[in-house]
Amino acid sequence: MPDYSNPKLLVERGSLSEGQVTWRSPSNIALIKYWGKYGRQLPQNPSISLTLDQAYTETTIAYRPKTGTGQDIELAFFFADKPNDAFAAKVKAYLERQVDVFPFLRQLTLTIRSHNSFPHSAGIASSASSMSALALCLCDLERQFFGNLEDDSAFRQKASYLARLGSGSACRSVYPVTAVWGETVEIDGTSNEYAVPVGDQLHEDFRTFHDDILIVSNREKSVSSRAGHQLMDGNPYANPRYQQARQQLHRLWNAMKEGDLATFGQITEQEAMTLHALMMASHPPFILMEPNTLEIIRRVQAWRTDTGQPLYFTLDAGPNIHLLYPHAIADEVQDFTADSLQPFCENDQIIRDQVGQGPSKR
Ligand code: DP6
Repeated sequence: MPDYSNPKLLVERGSLSEGQVTWRSPSNIALIKYWGKYGRQLPQNPSISLTLDQAYTETTIAYRPKTGTGQDIELAFFFADKPNDAFAAKVKAYLERQVDVFPFLRQLTLTIRSHNSFPHSAGIASSASSMSALALCLCDLERQFFGNLEDDSAFRQKASYLARLGSGSACRSVYPVTAVWGETVEIDGTSNEYAVPVGDQLHEDFRTFHDDILIVSNREKSVSSRAGHQLMDGNPYANPRYQQARQQLHRLWNAMKEGDLATFGQITEQEAMTLHALMMASHPPFILMEPNTLEIIRRVQAWRTDTGQPLYFTLDAGPNIHLLYPHAIADEVQDFTADSLQPFCENDQIIRDQVGQGPSKR
């Protein structure tokens, strides 16, 4: 278990000037889902995701030495160029929790600017991209001030750890292509504390996989992910679910290494439906799918049967559909989605995304 707390990370008075760091970090889509946690943001089961490309958050932390002697984190937060008090309060609370890791945060006055590549109202969870971008910026400050974390894997592991403390799924976004979070005997080096990259072991078909995000509704969810995770604690299916996730990870990971699209699709869709079944079996139960979610699922299944093409779906904790397919059938799928699925999307919104190379410093 890493212990990142380090009281030595204080900057010498007088040596500090002003500066800034910027990171762009993508969202990710889980195939085996993280749903249920314990302790300090630790997952009840391992999860695996594809890192996306077009759906990202870009965050800049600008800093200058604090003039006063107060111990508070001094922070102004702008989202999409506008001051945002709600986000500022959330980020401030997060940074306060990290001062044992980054004591220098108390020495600075921070201005954080953040924006998403996708519309804020698209109903896409932005916590993975935003918390990973923030964590990467923080680790970069440590690198700038102290010359630490020069080794890329140490840098990313710490960023993944810190991203996890902001939002569990965010820890998987710091790596290209695909990442696993949560201990599993399947894959060496896995941990509940941070994600690990596994893209180099993947069959080439998955490296260029597409993910078209069909926006069924852009309304705010009736139950947040945070509340959904909590409801797993009283869910009678929780333990069998955690066991099932481990078995599914084993089968899915083999399929992803071998390029077995049919097994990949079967497990991925079962995971999506299991996630929503768990919501319906919670106490109190809740439904995040919308009628058009089901309509689209039925149409995807029918198209797959008619054409024999490997087009699959997954869902995150909301009504929107992620369509997953190999690059080789991109033209056909995009014709089908434009003709048959787009009318079931709110404002005809589809975000065409694909597997990406992970975060980048700007
Ligand atoms: C269904 O990572 O958003 O997308 O840790 O409370 O911030 P918190 O939850 P979050 O949950 C994501 C749930 C999911 C599955 C997944 O991404 O693995």
